Amino acid sequence: MDKKDLLKLAAEMTLEEKALQMTQLSPDMLYHLAPANLTGPLREWRFEDEELWKVGSTLGPLGASYLKKLQKDYLERSGKKIPLLFMSDVIHGYVTIMPIPLAQGCTFDPELTEEAAAAVAKESAVSGLHVTFSPMADLVRDPRWGRVMESCGEDPYLNGVMAAATVRGYQGRDPREKGKIASCVKHFAAYGQPEGGREYNTVDMSRGVLRDFYLPAYEAAIRAGAAMVMTSFNTVERTPATCSRFLLRKVLREEWGFDGVVISDFSAVEELMNHSVAADDLEAGEKSIHAGMDIEMMSGVYAGTLRRLLEQGRITQQEIDECVMRILELKNRLGLFENPYKDADEQEEQRLLYCGEHLELARRFARESMVLLKNQSALPIEPSAKIGLAGPFACTGNILGGWHCEGKPERTETLQHALETVCGDRMVTAMSTHFIRGEKDVPDQVEEAVERLKDCDICIAAVGEPEWETGEASSKTCLRLSASQEKLIHALKAAGKKVVTVIFSGRPLDIAPVLEDSDAVLQAWFPGSAGAGAAADILLGKYNPSGRLSMSFPRNVGQIPVYYNYYNTGRPAAAKADNYVSRYLDCPNSPLFPFGYGLSYTTFACEGLQVEQTAQGGERCACETGRAGDRAVCTASVRVSNRGERSGETVVQLYIRDVSASVVRPMTELKAFRRISLEPGEEAQAAFTVTEDMLSFYNEEEQWAWEPGAFEIMVGLDCEHVEKKEIFVPARTGGLEE
Ligand code: GLC
Repeated sequence: MDKKDLLKLAAEMTLEEKALQMTQLSPDMLYHLAPANLTGPLREWRFEDEELWKVGSTLGPLGASYLKKLQKDYLERSGKKIPLLFMSDVIHGYVTIMPIPLAQGCTFDPELTEEAAAAVAKESAVSGLHVTFSPMADLVRDPRWGRVMESCGEDPYLNGVMAAATVRGYQGRDPREKGKIASCVKHFAAYGQPEGGREYNTVDMSRGVLRDFYLPAYEAAIRAGAAMVMTSFNTVERTPATCSRFLLRKVLREEWGFDGVVISDFSAVEELMNHSVAADDLEAGEKSIHAGMDIEMMSGVYAGTLRRLLEQGRITQQEIDECVMRILELKNRLGLFENPYKDADEQEEQRLLYCGEHLELARRFARESMVLLKNQSALPIEPSAKIGLAGPFACTGNILGGWHCEGKPERTETLQHALETVCGDRMVTAMSTHFIRGEKDVPDQVEEAVERLKDCDICIAAVGEPEWETGEASSKTCLRLSASQEKLIHALKAAGKKVVTVIFSGRPLDIAPVLEDSDAVLQAWFPGSAGAGAAADILLGKYNPSGRLSMSFPRNVGQIPVYYNYYNTGRPAAAKADNYVSRYLDCPNSPLFPFGYGLSYTTFACEGLQVEQTAQGGERCACETGRAGDRAVCTASVRVSNRGERSGETVVQLYIRDVSASVVRPMTELKAFRRISLEPGEEAQAAFTVTEDMLSFYNEEEQWAWEPGAFEIMVGLDCEHVEKKEIFVPARTGGLEE
């Protein structure tokens, strides 16, 4: 349909039809079934049957036959034949599950991320889906918050690169195309910084911090073409994001030029009353409409109030029509008026879902996402070694992580199976009882396990946190491994074994208590459908680990939040040895493991940093953030060499520091990175162009600008081990076109 047809259609809609087009419910409700797949609190529903079948979109289960039937039943009841829009939480896979996004961030591999998102889109599209509520671009610094698993970590640039790659993978050039789906970036904005790491808690930060750290990744997703934005539950500057005109009108639409659809999170419109910014549902509806919030998810405020708000003159017909037009335009952009069933195809579904190609891709992704944190002559495991395996993650398929859709843990390969496939009877397994929901720990079978593994040369402790303790509504104040898991590691060490600790978790756990007794530590995250095989590939030396941390590991919970891109203080701890500096009495300021860190089975060196300043107002260059007219400031190059016996991949990272500016600036900011693969003895030059955009930030006047002065250019293999050069960038002289 063309714009004229859409406008004509909108003009023919009644106000009730418009209000319901702006409402999203679970399909179970249309069929009067108890909604089974809710991701929020169930409330009483004041909808009549004919209203239910006029909602504009649904969220929830996929399946070609299910969604084709739903669309058919819906259109048969629809006078205006406006197709229903199907949305769901396909966060890191539909049936073939990829590693959790926090692990994806550790790959520093946007190309592979885009490839994986494209595979996820194919499985989802053929199962009838139109929109996925992904990527989650919330920056995170607090592992007490369970949803850090859904983010790509603590750095705004890495989050942005990965969010943009995910959007491109889902949508391709045009989400209307076969095998593509629309992307809804979330949760706008700053949901990842709840006070105390407590889920749904207040978010409060300065405008400058919001701009420096928490907004850039959403902007990158928007610039990559994300079709939708979901508002977050939290407040920003004392206003819930769902009715924040600063966020939704000024930043999103005026500054970033977003003209797509904004949807609330689950019942977030109704929750404006809990936030005490709406005295009643009328005011909740009024404030959300004024903010330009188009679709209300899983609450009935719009359906119940728009007519009265209009009659009372509190909102305008134009505001309503703008929302409706954006929804109709999204359906039109997906080609649903011509083909309401889009790619839903039962036969194709059988061929594509969980296919070998996607599983192989998932294994590659999982291998790159795992991070080797410690290795003292333990890994890779010698081919002749007798291997012991113990712990609750030895024999379970529950390694998919939260939001695993139709991932089916019961058919997911276990670590025991993956290892035995290669090692056969060299394997002995013990204490493999699983976590049981509601139980605090797994049964303590440590003595039996030590006894059973007593002839083994090396013991793998497969430990972590149960996946139902991560994701939404999963904040925790204690991040240690459970008592029996810690006891297992200590007991194996005390029995004189080499201990390899493999951690399955959705967040950085507090692993300091077991670090000393672990000869090696592999952070496997929740690695998805092919994660066990990927872990075995690393443990047995088939793959040389290359993951780099997307989020810092704290030394203990008391240290949280600990992250690499902090502002300095007036009394930095490094400055003086005395007490009157910014430090703790009982813990260093540095994390246990920093952002960008990861070990390899070989040894990489990064040296010989050269920084060449480009002539004044250097040549224009393509700027990744999409801002036109960016200019080069300097180039930075290093020599990277593989000094070990094995080929491998490393991630060269470019950081900058603005030494002195009109407002404080982070001590270190990631601005570019590159994966480099090197054979033993090989070396390569890694060169980066530093641009004015990389030096820029939002100043006190909220203008995006860089300021002349001294800058440190740093290049290294993690944020703490860098080569550094200082340059002075003078103000741009006149005579150059702006
Ligand atoms: C949940 C989550 C959001 C999800 C939505 C729909 O509450 O916050 O991430 O997309 O509801 O399931």
